[in-house]
Amino acid sequence: MGRHGHENMGLITKAPRGTLDKLPGEASKCRAIENNALEIAAVYGYKEIRTPVFEHTALFKRGVGDTTDIVQKEMYTFDDKKGRSLTLKPEGTASTARAAIENGLFNEALPLKLCYVTNCYRYEAPQSGRYREFSQFGAEVYGADTPLCDAELIALAYDLFTELGIPDNAYTIEINSIGCPECRVKYQDSLRRYYSEFEDKLCRDCMERLERNPMRLIDCKNPSCGEFKENAPLILDYNCDKCAEFFNGFKSGLDLLSIPYTVNSKIVRGLDYYTNTVFEFVLKSNGLVFGAGGRYNGLIEELGGNAAPASGFALGIERLVAVIGEGAGFPLPKKPDIYIAALGEKAAAFALKLTRDLRCACIWAECDIVGRSVKAQMRFADKIGARFSMVIGENELETGKAVLKDMATKDSREVGLVLEQILGGIYQ
Ligand code: HAM
Repeated sequence: MGRHGHENMGLITKAPRGTLDKLPGEASKCRAIENNALEIAAVYGYKEIRTPVFEHTALFKRGVGDTTDIVQKEMYTFDDKKGRSLTLKPEGTASTARAAIENGLFNEALPLKLCYVTNCYRYEAPQSGRYREFSQFGAEVYGADTPLCDAELIALAYDLFTELGIPDNAYTIEINSIGCPECRVKYQDSLRRYYSEFEDKLCRDCMERLERNPMRLIDCKNPSCGEFKENAPLILDYNCDKCAEFFNGFKSGLDLLSIPYTVNSKIVRGLDYYTNTVFEFVLKSNGLVFGAGGRYNGLIEELGGNAAPASGFALGIERLVAVIGEGAGFPLPKKPDIYIAALGEKAAAFALKLTRDLRCACIWAECDIVGRSVKAQMRFADKIGARFSMVIGENELETGKAVLKDMATKDSREVGLVLEQILGGIYQ
């Protein structure tokens, strides 16, 4: 047996199916989105929270719901060495709620606003925009049971999209109300009545959904079940007066903030914890849902906390990268401010020190660390797109002066080899 035993060498250089390497260009786009999201969330009063990448499986079964696709088919669940069942988080809401309950965050001033950027894991069939590892920016509010709270959440997302250069007319904010548990019982009954007519034509999953959780029928991605959706009863028709009033308040809140929306009563969401408000951000050009959320007033109690209303949303970062890619685009990647080439050992040592001093002054400076000739160093400076360059040799060390050259315009000027003068040359 060779050094590599029976390992399949082909797999070693291949990322697992449904995962993405975010190479520097892509990673900087994700970083730009995340930074913008966290900054805007901060002025809306959200504090960042980080929760573990895995949780007890029971949290998601209880939180996301036993009959959802996520829990039934898509979770990465494993036993640890002590036989505990753990699951890589498929979403951020349940973990955030768990952490808030466990750490007594509900004892702080309410409403409590938490936000996060987290990796999520779902064993889904990979396709464009759908990955097995992806990341979400999420925002969750606890302790506010008003339509204005939900409108404010949408405003946060809307302002972020605007900041990211996504124009209003590129996407729709689709909203719906799935009512309270009482509205839901009536709606589920009517769905059962409606679908029982086609029972033998439904896919196997839907047959089971009809029994256990008929609202999931509206979500079925199977094309053969799609035709029955057309005439299915709509949840908005089953909202009680109180829920209808709440939905009207939500719409008025959006009007007040001049945020455009479309009512779509077919949105039921694939997670079980929602009550009243639900919404999705949908790209017009291809129907991609790049973010979604809603109110979930029952979850905190369901997870063992004292009853507290809650509402939130999450955006798919990879999907946002794709959305922005079609629009205004991202800021250009940064390039080094200056390359300091050196001739000889003494000058190399001087260049290394000077480069570090410049970096401490927040200038992106580069020098040779691979032992290249001056000519090769300059070729490299050109390749990496350095804005300025400077060559230091015996002569420069002796006189304490060197020539600072603008690589694009070829303008050059002599500067003293001290930090202030080099900075002056760069900023002039
Ligand atoms: P979700 O609709 O399951 O909701 O996911 C939110 C967003 O995450 C989606 O709109 C999409 O952009 C992204 N996403 C989901 N699955 C994938 C995937 N396989 N590949 C790439 N992106 C994906 C939730 O997760 C809720 N926790 C949202 C929420 C927060 N509700 C209340 N608070």
